[in-house]
Amino acid sequence: MAIGWEKVTVDLATSLGPIQLATPLVAASGTVGSVWEFAKVADPIAYGAMTAKSVSGDPWKGRPPPRLAPAGLGMLNGIGIQNVGIDAWRTETAPKLRRVGTQVWGSAVGTTPAEYARVAIGLAAAGVAAVEVNLSCPNLEDGRMFALDATLSGEVIAAVKGAVELPVGAKLSPDAEEIVPIALACHEAGADWLTLTNTARGAGIDIRSRRPLLSGVVGGYSGAPLKPISLRCVIEVAQALTEVPILGCGGVMRGADVIEYLMAGATAVGLGTIHFAEPRAATRILAEMVQWCEENGVDRVIDLVGAMEAG
Ligand SMILES: Cc1cc2nc3c(=O)[nH]c(=O)nc-3n(C[C@H](O)[C@H](O)[C@H](O)COP(=O)(O)O)c2cc1C
Repeated sequence: MAIGWEKVTVDLATSLGPIQLATPLVAASGTVGSVWEFAKVADPIAYGAMTAKSVSGDPWKGRPPPRLAPAGLGMLNGIGIQNVGIDAWRTETAPKLRRVGTQVWGSAVGTTPAEYARVAIGLAAAGVAAVEVNLSCPNLEDGRMFALDATLSGEVIAAVKGAVELPVGAKLSPDAEEIVPIALACHEAGADWLTLTNTARGAGIDIRSRRPLLSGVVGGYSGAPLKPISLRCVIEVAQALTEVPILGCGGVMRGADVIEYLMAGATAVGLGTIHFAEPRAATRILAEMVQWCEENGVDRVIDLVGAMEAG
C-alpha cells in the first residue's frame, strides 16, 4: 500500500528525548538484520529509525536449531543473540549504514557492564545515531538477566553513558517483577529513553515428537499476544516517571496498535515480529495511522501522547 507521502496532512514528527524522529515508527532490534540488507526490501522512510540486531563484544555462536517457532498467536525465538562481535560488525556494516535512508541505531549486548561499554564504543565508531542497550541478557557473575535487577541495569547504563556521547536507550524486559524501579534506575543512570519492552520468556512443546519447540527450551515470546503486557509496562512507567521518554514495543500489527501505545504515553513505537510476515508493514501501518488521525481530527501524532483518559 503506497501512503502517498505528498498528500499526508498529519504531522508525523515526534521525538524520543534528544532524538528527533520523522515518524513514530522504529524497527525493533533483531527483526531487520543489520538494517542495510532489510532496507532494500522495506520502505526506510516509513521509519523514524531502524535498529540493528544486538551485537556483543566477541562473536556469539547462538543456539542450534530450532530457533524460531510459531506459538499460539505469537512467535517464540531462541536465537541466542548470534552475532559476529563488534569488531567484525563494525568493519562489515559501517560503510553501508549511510545509504539506508533513515537513521540507524545500534544495539549493544554483553555479559558485563565493561563489555556493553566496549560494544557501544564500536557502534559509535560505525556511525550509528544512537545506542539501544539490550538488557535482556544473563550477566556473567550469576547468570541472572540484567533487566530483572535495578542495580545491575543501572550499572550497565552508567557504563555505556560513560563510554559514548550518543543518545543511549535502555531496553527492558516485561518479565521484571516490578518494572518501575528498573526504569527509574536506568533513568537515574542517564538513559535518554526506555524501550518497553523486549520479548517475554516463553516455551512450547511439539506434542507429537514430545520435543520443545526451541533447542534452548525457553526463549522469547513476541507478536500480538505481547501487546497488553508491554502496554501495561508503558502505562506503569509513564505514570510513575512522567519525564522519561518511552519507546513502546510489543505486538504492533496495525495502525490502531501504534495509537494505543502513544495514548499510553510512548512517543515512538517499535515494530518487530510483524516484519517476518510482512516486510513492508511499516508503510501500511503508517497509512492506517494517518487515516485514523484524519478521521478523528488529530493534526499531529504527538498530540496523542499520553492521551489516555483516567479509568
Ligand atoms: C527473531 C527475533 C530476534 C530478536 N532479536 C533481538 C535482539 O537481537 N535484540 C533486542 O534487543 N531485541 C530482539 N528482539 C526483540 C524485538 O526487538 C522486540 O522487542 C520484541 O520482539 C517485541 O516486539 P514485537 O512483538 O513487535 O516483535 C528479537 C525479536 C525476535 C522476534
